[in-house]
Amino acid sequence: MAGRIPQSFIDDLIARADIVEVINARVPLKKKGREYTACCPFHNEKTPSFTVSEAKQFYHCFGCGAHGTAIGFLMEYEHLDFVDAIETLAAEYHLEVPREDAGDQSRRGPDQKQAMYDILERVSQLYQQQLRQSSKAIDYLKQRGLSGEIAKRYQLGYAPDGWHFLLENIDDKALNINKLKSSGLIIEKSPGKRYDRFRDRIMFPILDRRGRTIAFGGRVIDQGEPKYLNSPDTPVFHKGYELYGFYEARQAVRNLQRIVVVEGYMDVVALAQNGIEYAVATLGTATTSDQIQKLFRSVHEVIFCYDGDRAGQKAAWRALENTLPVLRDGLEARFLFLPEGEDPDSLVRAEGRDAFESRLNHAVPLSEFLFSHLLEDVDAGSMDGKARLANEAKPLLARIPESVFRDLMYQRLSELVGISQEKLQATRTAAETKAIHQPADLPAPTGKDVKQNATRDAIALMLQHPELATETDIPDAFATATIQGFPLLHELYRTIRENPAITSSALLERWRDKKEFAILQKLMQRNVFGTEEKADQVAVFGDAIQRLVMKYKDERFEILESRLKQGGLNETELEEYKSLLAR
Ligand code: GTP
Ligand code: MN
Repeated sequence: MAGRIPQSFIDDLIARADIVEVINARVPLKKKGREYTACCPFHNEKTPSFTVSEAKQFYHCFGCGAHGTAIGFLMEYEHLDFVDAIETLAAEYHLEVPREDAGDQSRRGPDQKQAMYDILERVSQLYQQQLRQSSKAIDYLKQRGLSGEIAKRYQLGYAPDGWHFLLENIDDKALNINKLKSSGLIIEKSPGKRYDRFRDRIMFPILDRRGRTIAFGGRVIDQGEPKYLNSPDTPVFHKGYELYGFYEARQAVRNLQRIVVVEGYMDVVALAQNGIEYAVATLGTATTSDQIQKLFRSVHEVIFCYDGDRAGQKAAWRALENTLPVLRDGLEARFLFLPEGEDPDSLVRAEGRDAFESRLNHAVPLSEFLFSHLLEDVDAGSMDGKARLANEAKPLLARIPESVFRDLMYQRLSELVGISQEKLQATRTAAETKAIHQPADLPAPTGKDVKQNATRDAIALMLQHPELATETDIPDAFATATIQGFPLLHELYRTIRENPAITSSALLERWRDKKEFAILQKLMQRNVFGTEEKADQVAVFGDAIQRLVMKYKDERFEILESRLKQGGLNETELEEYKSLLAR
């Protein structure tokens, strides 16, 4: 089992990695002056406002405000957690990630995750083995038209009947009970009273991007309630982010071009059985924009497939709303509504692959669905109807990123309501404007910039040029000063003194989980020096610290003076007061 990654390795890795290389491998960069630029991968734009500074090892987008180190970029761009980002980066530089000795691991985040992956994998193997031994489960799958080959590809399993299958079949029980619990596989109602969550169910393992089992869906065999049972959200599984079948689709289809989003596990598997290997399912929830974004990172075409009934229409509309903010030019979203009473599973089995694919090929483009849906409820022939249509469509169109597609949508609306495009777009509400500039799933840019003050200046200088702290002393009293920013300044200083070779971005990354991380990221973007001369920089920093020392003394003096008036200073305080008086 993996232990903690040593901090020194993280520092070295960040120092060794070059942010320009890391980003350029994913988003091709162009050199422009001293920086590199590209169209921002985190929001949609036609002219580049995404910049990467080689000197600072930091990226920043002037359009949407996204910013960070190489690690931050990997986390955002590939949706990784910190440890995954470190591992990805290390792999790119052909470095093995060392681990500290295991020791007590129960409290450690990353290790707890690894333990969960391990136990989930073992349990999945057990369930698969049970499936091979259960004629009841095999017969059920056969009766649903599934072959052994497809069951194997989707790693389908069977959780046998009985309350304690896992507890009886996982060895090192004492060691593993907590892992089974935190992975949602066993339930503990009261201390010591434990039982399996999944009993007598066909098991569908849910795999992550890398093919690791992170959760399960379990279906009753034939009748019973609830029909499906899912793993709860855990540290390795977030329902609204994962998609069932996505990993399998990418494995099965080389050069994946399109994805069909369906509602059920069975639909995904049945489609694959019938040769349509690019279906994924949400996990019993509405399709989120996280999920849609994830899909559009891999393919250019997504087809949402829903029942033709009211519920299906509603689900499709929600998917449409969540798709708008991620639609860049070149991406295509379409909608397929199935005949009443059918789902993809029943339909593909009844009519076969070609007929189903022909339905997919004729799926309704998002633009058409949007307008036809809005037009259902309004009389576009009347003035009132036109006004209503405009009012309902405008906020939706405003969510689409700036693109040819958006222009075309406005053009269509303009034709329908008889108002010029310019006028439609000129009368944007504040909410619409905000929607345009704030793509989904990105932190809102705060707008106001970091306030300029001496403390922040000094922090920015030291953060961007850690070597400065090795040449200038900062009083230890700052660590406990009550002036805002002083303890942070001192903590940065102390960290650099303890790790004199630390780079700017490694220093920043050490603050990732602390409350000051956001402000430090802002300060990283500042232009701190007008000079490249090392000696001048040292002098500027020295001055900045000098000013802060004066500020500290003023503050101290006031505090001591007021306490003196209230009657109490001890001897050392009195000494301090006297020396301050003489300053
Ligand atoms: P079959 O009935 O076996 O064909 O499965 P299906 O996938 O077609 O199921 P259905 O269309 O009824 O439901 C679609 C999806 O909604 C399922 O795959 C589940 O993710 C979810 N779902 C359905 N029923 C339940 C339930 O009782 N509980 C939970 N949590 N989710 C459910
Ligand atoms: Mn079904």
